[in-house]
Amino acid sequence: GAADLGPYRHYMQKEIFEQPRAIADTLEGVEGITPELFGDGAYSTFKAIDNVLILACGTSYYSGCVAKYWIEAIAKVPCQVEIASEYRYRESVPNPSTLIVTITQSGETADTLAALRHAQSLGMTHTLTICNVSTSAMVRECKHAYVTRAGAEIGVASTKAFTTQLAGLFLLTLALAQTKGRLSDAEEAAHIKAMRHLPAALQAVLALEPQVMAWAQEFASKENALFLGRGTHYPIALEGALKLKEITYIHAEAYAAGELKHGPLALVTSAMPVVTVAPNDQLLEKLKSNMQEVRARGGVLYVLADGDTKIESSEGINVIRMPEHYGVLSPILHVVPLQLLSYHTACARGTDVDKPRNLAKSVTVE
Ligand code: G6P
Repeated sequence: GAADLGPYRHYMQKEIFEQPRAIADTLEGVEGITPELFGDGAYSTFKAIDNVLILACGTSYYSGCVAKYWIEAIAKVPCQVEIASEYRYRESVPNPSTLIVTITQSGETADTLAALRHAQSLGMTHTLTICNVSTSAMVRECKHAYVTRAGAEIGVASTKAFTTQLAGLFLLTLALAQTKGRLSDAEEAAHIKAMRHLPAALQAVLALEPQVMAWAQEFASKENALFLGRGTHYPIALEGALKLKEITYIHAEAYAAGELKHGPLALVTSAMPVVTVAPNDQLLEKLKSNMQEVRARGGVLYVLADGDTKIESSEGINVIRMPEHYGVLSPILHVVPLQLLSYHTACARGTDVDKPRNLAKSVTVE
C-alpha cells in the first residue's frame, strides 16, 4: 500500500530510484568472474556450447538484445535473440551446442516457459535463466540460473528488473569470455571495477530528474515520438519507446539510427520529438549526421549525450548531459533517463502509471 511508497508517488518512481540498491544487491558477493556464478557445472556447460540463443518477452527481450552485442563483442560467441512467442511456434533448426538463455523478471511468463520447453523438446539441454524470482518455474526448469536481486517489482512497466538483468547478462558475457579464453586478468579486473561503480554512477544519473521533467512537460502534449540509437543503445531506444507506449499511451517507435533514411525520416516534422541516445562511442559522428537529417526537416531533438561530448543545446536541440562516459556498461545508465521521461510524461498526462490499461505485470496465460 501507500505506506511502503515512502516519498514516492508511484511504485514505478520508487523502483526507478531503487536501481542503485538493486544493482548493488545483484552484484553482491561477486568477487571475480567464474562460471560457477551460474551454478554447479556451469563451467562444463560453457565449455560445451558454441553459440547462444536468448529467448524472452517485452522488456526482458530488450535486455537480451543488449546482451547480444556484448556476447559477440566480448566473448566472441555467436548469439541470437528471439521473441519467445515467435520461437515456440516456428520451425527452427535445433543445435545441441546452443546455450539457451531465457530472461524473465517473473519466471512465470507463459510464452517464455513454452519457448524453453520447446527448445528442450528439440534436444537442447544447455539451459540458463536470468530471473528475478528464485522460486519460479523458470529457475526450477533451467539447468543454470543467475537470480537478480531487484526485489519485488510492482509497477507493470519494468525498470529495476531490466537494469539488474543487464548486470546479470554482463556477468554471463564475462563468464563465457573467460571460459573461451577471451578474458585477460586485467580485463576482468577493469570490468569488475566498472561494475562496482555502477550504483554510484546510477545515483548521479538519477540526479538528472529535474532536467528530464522539463522534457516531460513538452512530451505530454505529443501523440508520437521517435527514439534513435546505435549499437548497444539501439535496444535502449527500443526500451525507451516501449516505456513511453506502455504508460503514457503516446505512440512511439524506435529505430537503429542508420535506418532513419530508409523510412521514418518521412514522418519527421516539428510535431515529432526525436529522442537520441548518444553516448560518446565510436558511432557518435555517425549519430550526429543522423541528427542533422532530423533538424533539416524541422524535427526537434532530445539528446542524451555523454558529459564529454561537444553536442550543445541550440535551436531545436535539447541536450541532457550524462554525468560520465561509461564504456560498454553505458546502456545500464542511458536507460534511466528514458524511464524517468516516460514516468513524468505519464504523470503530466494523468494516466494510471502503475497499472496501465490493458496490460498485466505477468502474462502467465497465452
Ligand atoms: C509483461 C510485463 C512487462 C514484461 C513482460 C515480460 O508484458 O508487463 O513489463 O517485460 O511481461 O515479463 P517477464 O516476467 O517474463 O520478464
